[in-house]
Amino acid sequence: MKQLPVSILVIIGVSLTTAWAESNDHAYTSESVSRGYQVYIDNCALCHGLEGNWIEGVDLSRAQFKTAVTDHDIKGVIVEGAAEGRMPRFDLTEDELDGIIAYIRIGFDPDGVAVKIGDPLHGETIFRGHGECSGCHRINGLGPRTAPDLSHIGSHRTPGALYRTLLTPETALLPINKSVILVTKSEETITGRRLNEDTYTVQIIDSTERLRSFKKSDLTHYDISDEPTHKPSELSEEEVADVIGYLLTLRSAP
Ligand code: HEC
Ligand code: HEC
Repeated sequence: MKQLPVSILVIIGVSLTTAWAESNDHAYTSESVSRGYQVYIDNCALCHGLEGNWIEGVDLSRAQFKTAVTDHDIKGVIVEGAAEGRMPRFDLTEDELDGIIAYIRIGFDPDGVAVKIGDPLHGETIFRGHGECSGCHRINGLGPRTAPDLSHIGSHRTPGALYRTLLTPETALLPINKSVILVTKSEETITGRRLNEDTYTVQIIDSTERLRSFKKSDLTHYDISDEPTHKPSELSEEEVADVIGYLLTLRSAP
């Protein structure tokens, strides 16, 4: 693996070394990130600052923009300029643009993964179509209850967490989302997903979407599976970016 220029390590600190390793098999390459860093310093830092937070209402390292959502939108802002010329238009090559986006995206995620974010509309089509997500997940009252409701997933999860859920599910499985297998004293076996649990009781949605509550003292077995339901997604890199773009639009009503 090629080394990062020392200057980047100094500025971003130790956390990037992990991010770096991860980003290699993720959407952006290491070359892209270091190229982007240089282009950023030369063209953008003057106004946006080294940490990307000098402009009111825009914090590039945290993906806080005014109107931009996708990588494509950010490129549009750079190529066309913004705010009636207060941000000038830049004449950069496609490689330089990709580099800046990679650099912005790697700083953006607290988990340090530079994840591509694509077209939300296309992402929704995939979600409802050949991605087969809507066969398990419920959004805004539509769809089954056997998998986590994703209506507000965009305000709860980072792009990095969504990426891991789709590509390396075993690294993203949250305790509350683990599936459970219960056996009651009357020898009924129930599999399902936990909604809630305390010391004495557990509430689950069973495989037929029924909400059920059990006293733990009435159970002879209570197993929590560490095996994710998700298999690593077979969608293409672009499709995953689009689906993540869509998931990020699913937020709590303002
Ligand atoms: C001369 C100052 C200046 C320079 C140089 C500059 N910007 Fe900006 N940028 C601004 C201003 C001002 C805004 C806020 C626009 C607004 O208020 O809508 C902005 C906004 C943005 C936004 C958010 C746009 C949105 O609508 O969501 C992004 C992304 C951005 N800049 C990226 C960059 C990048 C990348 C570079 C370097 C290639 C750069 N800027 C260079 C002044 C600048
Ligand atoms: C066979 C049913 C099934 C399908 C198909 C499915 N999921 Fe899931 N999904 C689950 C279950 C169950 C979980 C809980 C974690 C686990 O068991 O892996 C989950 C977890 C998730 C999470 C994490 C939720 C959280 O709270 O962090 C996201 C995001 C997600 N799925 C998105 C998708 C997307 C996008 C697709 C389509 C590409 C998809 N799922 C397809 C069943 C499914």
